[in-house]
This record gives sequence, C-alpha cells and structure tokens, in this order.
Amino acid sequence: MLYPSGVAAISCALLAVLKPGDVLLMTDSAYDPSRSFADGFLKRFGIETRYFDPMIGGDIASQFCARTKAILLESPGSLTFEVQDIPAICASAKAQGICTLLDNTWATPYFFTAIEKGVDITILAATKYIVGHSDVMAGSVSANAKYWNMVAAAARAMGQILSPDDAYLAARGLRTMAVRLRQHEASALKIAHWLQGRSEVVRVLHPGLPDCPGHSIWQRDFTGSSGLFSFVIDGSKAKAAALIDALTLFGIGYSWGGFESLALPVHPEKFRSAVPWTGGDAIIRLQIGLEDTDDLIADLANGFEAASKVT
Ligand SMILES: Cc1ncc(COP(=O)(O)O)c(C=O)c1O
Repeated sequence: MLYPSGVAAISCALLAVLKPGDVLLMTDSAYDPSRSFADGFLKRFGIETRYFDPMIGGDIASQFCARTKAILLESPGSLTFEVQDIPAICASAKAQGICTLLDNTWATPYFFTAIEKGVDITILAATKYIVGHSDVMAGSVSANAKYWNMVAAAARAMGQILSPDDAYLAARGLRTMAVRLRQHEASALKIAHWLQGRSEVVRVLHPGLPDCPGHSIWQRDFTGSSGLFSFVIDGSKAKAAALIDALTLFGIGYSWGGFESLALPVHPEKFRSAVPWTGGDAIIRLQIGLEDTDDLIADLANGFEAASKVT
C-alpha cells in the first residue's frame, strides 16, 4: 500500500495491528517521529509503548508480556546505526504470535529483504532512496499474507493514498534505484574511511565498519550499505555546528536519500529511554549523495579547519 509520506506509512501500519490495551515494543534507536506517535497518539488510545535495547537480539523474549502485540524495529537505527538481529527477534516474536514491523528505509529491499528474513510488515519512507531526487514524499507498507488484509483495510479506512503524479515520480525513481544505491554505497564508504583517519574523529557509525554495533549482523544479513551514516567528533556541539556551517557542498537537511549530500547535527541523547546514549556530544549525520567524492572530502576538510578554531 502507498501513503503520502513515510511517517503516514509508519503510523498507519501501527494502527492496522494495535488496539486499546495492547503493548507495543519499540527499538530505542527508532526514528524520533515514530516514538512521538507512540508516546502521544497511541497512548491516548490506551496503547502502551515500551522501549528496548536495539542490540537485544533473541533476548527480546524477556520483554514480552501477555499484552505484547507488536514490535517496531529499525535497522540500522536512526542517528546511531546499530544493526539489529532481525531474524532472531522475528523468530522469538513469531513463536508468541507477536507481529513484527520494520522501518527498512535505510537499506531498502535492495540491500535487505525484510519479509524473507522473518519480518511481518515492512515499511519504507519512499521519500528517500525510491524517489531519490528529493522532490516527492511517499511511503509504502508491504506485508506477508497473515497481515496483508489488516494493512490494506486500515489504509483504505483512513483514506491513505499517493497522488498519481507522485506515484509516477516514485516509479521513475525506482528504475534507477539500484545504480544510485551502489554509488551511494561506494561514496559513503570512501568518506567514512577518510573520516576514520582524521584525528578529530572519535568514531564513525557506519554498519559497514567493524566498530559499528551489529557490524557482523550487517555482514550476515545485508547485501550492501546505503549513503547515510554518522560520525562523532572530539569536542562540543559548538564545534560540530562550526564544521557544518563551513560546508559549501553539503546542504543541511532532515530528510535524506536524494542525489545531494547533506549534513545534520543530531542529538540521540534526547531520544533514548531504554539505553542512554553515551557515545559523544558532537555527532553529525551525513547523507552522501552522488557528487564527486574528492570534492566532498575537500569540503569536509574545510569544515574541520573551521571547527578547529572553536575552543
Ligand atoms: C528512518 C526514517 N523513517 C521514516 C522517515 C519518514 O519519512 P517521510 O519524511 O517520508 O515522512 C524518515 C525521514 O527522515 C526516516 O529517516
């Protein structure tokens, strides 16, 4: 089913499977608007949300209670990129009849085949890599046979549609998604490795790098990596801001997945409740677009130069 945005797809998929009295388990690394929808809107309807450590794996069963109805997963996690053990979590959930939903926007079905890995309902912000040109917002939800009728009925009941013009542009984007993703992957990895070599960088959070939590799970389950990752610099949020302000090729943007590179200061410490974020204050998320990587690296080098002047 198609929706006018990724957020619409997430909320409508959750409403399709939950009812008053149910408990929703959500990864602590979820996209912030998914958390707000659960903590605000779903709560008003008597649905309780409990957060869990994204690295919990098969121990997810320790979080189950008689009212647990669904689990919202996101792998890798928004902002901090922990890779979750989706097959283990889905196997534990399935044994108890609990529905699993995955926000698969980062990998897309090209790099992670969610339903084959055991997920019941898979959600995409098509706004990102499917559309690919930052000019349309769209969302999609796909489900296995068990949940398909519920998903479709909820979308129809809430009048969720994608306009024909937007669907046309999303379909056109889809035709080049594979080649774009391969380029995003190569460029992002090159820049991530370059960042690792900078003395100012404390850590690069990219599922394709060995020190990313869940890297071995990524190697086992994914066929590639896309263009979005974060890095932590030594110093204050003011230093990160100065770095971003000095960039000329990177835009500042909350969305991502398009042809152009973006940089964003992010604040994971504000969006954690199960496991506090202790990975550093000055964290920057990059979306690596389709520009020349040497130009992007030169731009980032200027950013580091500007940041070095902030005490
Ligand atoms: C992981 C993730 N899921 C969902 C969305 C929501 O997508 P949309 O902007 O299409 O509502 C976003 C947007 O930034 C996202 O990063």
